[in-house]
Amino acid sequence: MKRDFESFRKRIEKEFLGHPVVTSNSYCQWFRRGEMNVEHVRHFVQQFSVFSNLFLVAALLKVINAGSLESQRESKEILMNELGVIYRKKKSDHSRSAEEARVAQESATDPDLVSTEGTVDGGTFRFQAAHFEWLLKIGETLGLTFDDMGKRRHGSQSTLFFTNELARLYGSEDYNESQGAGFAVENWAAAGFWKDLIAGLEVVKQKHVPNLHLAFFTFHDKIEGQHKEHVWDELRECFEDAKFDENTFMRAGVEMLDGVKVFWDGLFEDAKRAGLVREGAAVTRH
Ligand SMILES: [Fe+2]
Repeated sequence: MKRDFESFRKRIEKEFLGHPVVTSNSYCQWFRRGEMNVEHVRHFVQQFSVFSNLFLVAALLKVINAGSLESQRESKEILMNELGVIYRKKKSDHSRSAEEARVAQESATDPDLVSTEGTVDGGTFRFQAAHFEWLLKIGETLGLTFDDMGKRRHGSQSTLFFTNELARLYGSEDYNESQGAGFAVENWAAAGFWKDLIAGLEVVKQKHVPNLHLAFFTFHDKIEGQHKEHVWDELRECFEDAKFDENTFMRAGVEMLDGVKVFWDGLFEDAKRAGLVREGAAVTRH
């Protein structure tokens, strides 16, 4: 069994971690330099809001189609946190000050302050802790209103292709498809693109929008760093499940990453069309 898992692991490293969207994301490499104008940042935030909002559909489908109670709960951790349930740290000690700190933490809704670890079970729901509401705040500083964000009608063709793929694969009824897409998304998210976005937005904040609030992005960066730790354990559990089918798992994961790539490439094309990308600027980092 161990040897088989090792060959599966190698395949994951090659096909998921070696996917171009993970190894050479031209848009994010360009974005991190902060050479975009405010109009492009506005467009980026709008497309991100469509992804973020429609991700809720895929996440709910994942809950509905979960293959076990345990994985349904794991999917709910993600969905409920997206909607505004703040993670409650599992108590390591019962001292009063720790309890007070927990209460203080859960009354905060700022992405800079809320916990990035723990469980939604017993956590506090706050409207203002919904990730979409954090994006609305960023949008506000860029002149975007509620009417400009998060709906299908605001999505470009490439953004909608990506969100449709999320619903089809990440939210799939097929156990292996949803697991493969789920792991692919985690690998993608942990690959460091949040850091590229933060770096680029820091520059924009300095140059053009002093009140640009980056906490939505720094929160997700922190959260992904932690997810990464558990990925291989979860992968082994999935591999040992009687329903596991390696080829379906891998195919769905690669298709999911292809969908992610369409999203970023679409944004890059939009930036090029706006004349924001200098010739030869699409360098690869590796
Ligand atoms: Fe989120």
